Amino acid sequence: MKITVVGTGYVGLVTGTCFAETGNNVTCVDIDANKVKKLSSGQVTIYEPGLEKLFERNLKEGRLHFTTDLAAGIKDARIIFLALPTPPGEDGSADLSYILNVSDHLGKLLTDYKVIVDKSTVPVGTAEKVYAAIAKHGVTEFDVVSNPEFLREGVAVEDFMKPDRVVIGTSSERAQKIMAELYAPFVRQGNPILFMDEKSAELTKYAANSFLATKITFMNEIAILCEKLGADVDMVRRGIGSDDRIGKRFLFPGIGYGGSCFPKDVQALVKSSEEVDYEFKILNAVTDVNEKQKLFLVPKIQAYFGGNLKGKHFALWGLAFKPNTDDIREAPALYIIDALVAAGATITVFDPEAMENVKRVIGDKVEYAEHQYECLQHADALIIATEWSVFRTPDFDAIINTLQNKVIFDGRNLFDVKRMQEQGFHYESVGRQAASQQ
Ligand code: UDX
Repeated sequence: MKITVVGTGYVGLVTGTCFAETGNNVTCVDIDANKVKKLSSGQVTIYEPGLEKLFERNLKEGRLHFTTDLAAGIKDARIIFLALPTPPGEDGSADLSYILNVSDHLGKLLTDYKVIVDKSTVPVGTAEKVYAAIAKHGVTEFDVVSNPEFLREGVAVEDFMKPDRVVIGTSSERAQKIMAELYAPFVRQGNPILFMDEKSAELTKYAANSFLATKITFMNEIAILCEKLGADVDMVRRGIGSDDRIGKRFLFPGIGYGGSCFPKDVQALVKSSEEVDYEFKILNAVTDVNEKQKLFLVPKIQAYFGGNLKGKHFALWGLAFKPNTDDIREAPALYIIDALVAAGATITVFDPEAMENVKRVIGDKVEYAEHQYECLQHADALIIATEWSVFRTPDFDAIINTLQNKVIFDGRNLFDVKRMQEQGFHYESVGRQAASQQ
């Protein structure tokens, strides 16, 4: 099948590459000429495990093309995916201008039947708006489908190739058939394609992300209680997670959720609710708790150093909002850096992938180490903000020999408290009792 993907950001590039992988002929369109040049010459513009191999193969075999020309890009396409940004506007609602501009443009170009698919996360009612933006040019031979994506950064290719479910929102049988054919290779193992109306599909995406953000936030509050009551959140997590109704996943407490999806989507659902005169109370609380959670370690660090961080130097491991990505949007590490620097401390940071992105945003506000152990030199304590695998079983002797003090503040609960106690560390984490130096 011939497919066009408009927008070569994160979602667009993964979508285009994965559809090419199942034999489709995919053209990706982007207004950024520089990006199109890079992609056409084989350079993958995002970091995503497994993507490069697929990208190179499909480019080489002629199933993947890039252009800045929308008219040429959609010629002969049966399906046009819109994978465009929907950044939050000042009031938190999603800004649809990119999507509606392209829709308007499409209205002027369509000459034969095409399925226009919203892949971006868009508020309920967007499919109707896209339809209207195209139809106002007098075109009738098209359908609009809402097909939200549920990709996780770091495992996006795997999520795309083997989705738990595919959600297709459309009232057109013709479009349903085309979408079912396109997705058939991805659900061979028996996972469902769920057909529904456009609005339910649009709301499904927000409901999924907001539910997961709530689940994490609930555990973060349980962790706070655990510390106050003398319980251990690891035990409570296992205790509740083995109940199938709750499930084991997404119960890990930490220093708050970040990234490009959860914060934005929770905010957008609150906003959509307000627009229909409903106050979504749980989600307001989730946002409040999460904002505070990002700074969860800061009072602990302050208390340990007697309330004065002037002249203190810290090593910070982990900058990305989660492991296996270089994405630093809403990353807790950046909030911690701001707070510690404002309190008069200096920081050296290390991250396996996200250092360049951080340099671009905060420049020389911190120092950058080439290596995770070099990062520890002259530091009064180590702070851990992201659970990269390379931090999970570190060389504790190297840590002890390099750090000034045997002090670790761990926002991701990487180490066993008992072991840290035995090694003589002062070790504080999230929702567990501290190990203290003898
Ligand atoms: C998320 C959704 O999972 C995905 O379906 C959607 O399409 C986009 O948003 P992503 O933002 O890539 O994906 O990250 P995810 O792996 O879901 O983690 C989100 C945040 O929750 C991270 O900040 C992570 O550190 C945090 N998290 C996750 C926890 O704090 N505890 C957990 O148990 C799980």
